[in-house]
Amino acid sequence: MGLRGTVQVPGDKSMTHRAFLFGGIAEGTTRVRNALEGADCLASLEAMQALGAQIDRTPEEIRITGTDTFQEATIDCGNSGTTIRLLSGILAGGQAAYALDGDASLRRRPMKRITEPLALFGANITGETAPLHITGTPLVGTTYTLPVASAQVKSAMLLAGLHATGETTVIEPVLSRDHTERMLPQFGVDVTIDEREDGRHIRVQGPVRLHATSLDIPGDPSSAAFWWTAAAIGQDSRITTTHVLMNPTRIGFLQTLRQMGASVEINHRSEDGGEETADVTVETTSLQAITVEGDQIPSLIDEIPLLALLATQAEGRTIIRDAEELRVKETDRIETVVTALQRLGANIEATDDGMIIEGPTSLQAAEVDSAGDHRLAMMLTIAATINPEIMVHGREVVEVSYPTFYDDLKKLQSDQSE
Ligand code: S3P
Repeated sequence: MGLRGTVQVPGDKSMTHRAFLFGGIAEGTTRVRNALEGADCLASLEAMQALGAQIDRTPEEIRITGTDTFQEATIDCGNSGTTIRLLSGILAGGQAAYALDGDASLRRRPMKRITEPLALFGANITGETAPLHITGTPLVGTTYTLPVASAQVKSAMLLAGLHATGETTVIEPVLSRDHTERMLPQFGVDVTIDEREDGRHIRVQGPVRLHATSLDIPGDPSSAAFWWTAAAIGQDSRITTTHVLMNPTRIGFLQTLRQMGASVEINHRSEDGGEETADVTVETTSLQAITVEGDQIPSLIDEIPLLALLATQAEGRTIIRDAEELRVKETDRIETVVTALQRLGANIEATDDGMIIEGPTSLQAAEVDSAGDHRLAMMLTIAATINPEIMVHGREVVEVSYPTFYDDLKKLQSDQSE
């Protein structure tokens, strides 16, 4: 039996991180509604509290009263790459000594991509992996061209630029998610963006203090993508996700889904705090293989585990390339996705920078493990919606980005009314 119904997915993870971090350094009280209260974002919130910001919760919102003097702290960033990288940019210009650490997965992830460019500002940071040790020091603005399309690196640089004297320019040859550039102006910061031949030039002038604001966080398209996939591969399924963020740097997966032949309806478009939102409905259809590569990759990087699952149900050979960044996510997602889907009988193989999937195959009963990766746990659970004999272990990690995932699944399984 397929899945039919409506889901309001939790607030966007990338935007919630930024709301908490920026609120924590802003003057005044920032109010955040519909924040994602998953473990990753709570790591950012608790970090700001440890540094001296004040946090108050009401049933409707989280209020953060910021600070500009960050007290000495040892911060556990948990599983969160966004927390450790953005916070490094914030603390490089701080007034004390800080240690930033995380879980076993975070300790394996590359930090040189931020420590090297932050050194250009004069930052004093040691460690190529977590734990990182930062001694706050006066910074001087710089110009840096991103060697990888990474919003975390871009954001760390721009945040360091806020505390640096003079101008900071980040040149981005390939567009990555742009929430930092969109949200800083809401906190009263001037961000100048020029499209040039060598890429986007994003500029801030420091030192500058942020001013508190109110934010309403739209639904996370990376979370909605689980339901879009479930609807696309299910039998006679139709799922609507409401009030989802439609930022163009985030909806590559939705476009790919359409190109693969899925039925996608977009309704109730509106604009909210500088970001577009909409309701998205996906219905079961037959799917065709596709090649996904190049500049498309950053706009769907977190959804590639789902793209691999979709491809197992699509007619033909799907090729995903230029996605070597997957190797340095919460797990090596080329390895973990390919291994898990092979266990389910999929015809999938790993390449250095992606994967090749031959479809369609009917996924077979097997026991598979999340490998501690939240997106893998959810992708495999969606696979289990088309074969209930698939058993997924290590399911609790969904807590990182989508704590109510299994509740929403249950609701869809019992809600056959639409
Ligand atoms: C994020 C950026 C992306 C993404 C991650 C969240 C962000 O990582 O994969 O889940 O909020 O800036 P990179 O910047 O490392 O590509």
